[in-house]
Amino acid sequence: MKLFSSVNDVANVRQLVQEALDLKKSPFAYQDLGKNKTIGLVFLNPSLRTRLSTQKAAMNLGMSAMVMNMDKEGWALETRDGVVMNGTTVEHIREAAAVMGEYCDILGLRCFPKLEDRGEDYSEDLFNKFVKFCGIPVVSLESATLHPLQSLTDLVTITETWKNPARKPRVVLTWAPHVKALPQAVPNSFAEWMCRAQRDNMVDFVITHPEGYGLAEKFTPGAAINYNQDEALAGADYVYVKNWSSYQDYGKVIPVTGNWMMDLNKLSLTNSAKVMHCLPVRRDIELSSEILDSPHSLVVHEAGNRVWAAQAVLKQMLM
Ligand code: CP
Repeated sequence: MKLFSSVNDVANVRQLVQEALDLKKSPFAYQDLGKNKTIGLVFLNPSLRTRLSTQKAAMNLGMSAMVMNMDKEGWALETRDGVVMNGTTVEHIREAAAVMGEYCDILGLRCFPKLEDRGEDYSEDLFNKFVKFCGIPVVSLESATLHPLQSLTDLVTITETWKNPARKPRVVLTWAPHVKALPQAVPNSFAEWMCRAQRDNMVDFVITHPEGYGLAEKFTPGAAINYNQDEALAGADYVYVKNWSSYQDYGKVIPVTGNWMMDLNKLSLTNSAKVMHCLPVRRDIELSSEILDSPHSLVVHEAGNRVWAAQAVLKQMLM
């Protein structure tokens, strides 16, 4: 594997999930695979889980990891072509990415969207230029539109915790309130991976959100979409809670009617569902503390699994 930016970069999703679960059982089985190899983790935005779990995954494979907080410690990047750089940007991505490619064997990049221009964000211009100019394998640490390491982790977590071989789990992605506009990367990515898992007969997948919060159709093929949250939650085995800003009225927070926060009342509509969230989560805004502090919550377990998902991806890149 030379690029991990989407589920479409994965030939066999079931196999990758199994690989992550196998690595969880034997974290050091491939500790020589990355000997004398270096991963560079480049962050243009904050992170806790992605940064530490990917670093740990690399270390388990014997790699050295270098972390660059580009937004705080690097030169201001220019990404446009054909501009005279007489403004605030100091270094062009053409040189910056190429130089990082000289120092590393694999690079990871986190680059959030600006949520101003949908065309610009959804073109993944910055991420794609980084891939092109660094010249080495790249793993997405969350791009403008997708967060594949998170979504692989989520599928690993569902596969690991589902104990009923007689039927597939019903997985519901629900929109939740928030205090500010957030990217669509996590829900796009979760939808993309769950739609693939549904196609592969691993899950049944439903999305529920208020009108005006529909995700880009290219990420939701085959998903059932229901504007009525209570209906969607009926019989759910897993509820994935996440806020996102509008794709249609791009980057905006559209007022909604009714209560969309996941709480114990809503949980009672489900099949005693496990509740997931990528974290960080705003308690009692997106998801009630009662759920987060209950055995229904998988959020910490899920975050722990980030290591094994990252390790499975890095292993495939090293082989
Ligand atoms: N879920 C997730 O990606 O967490 P961080 O933003 O802390 O990396």
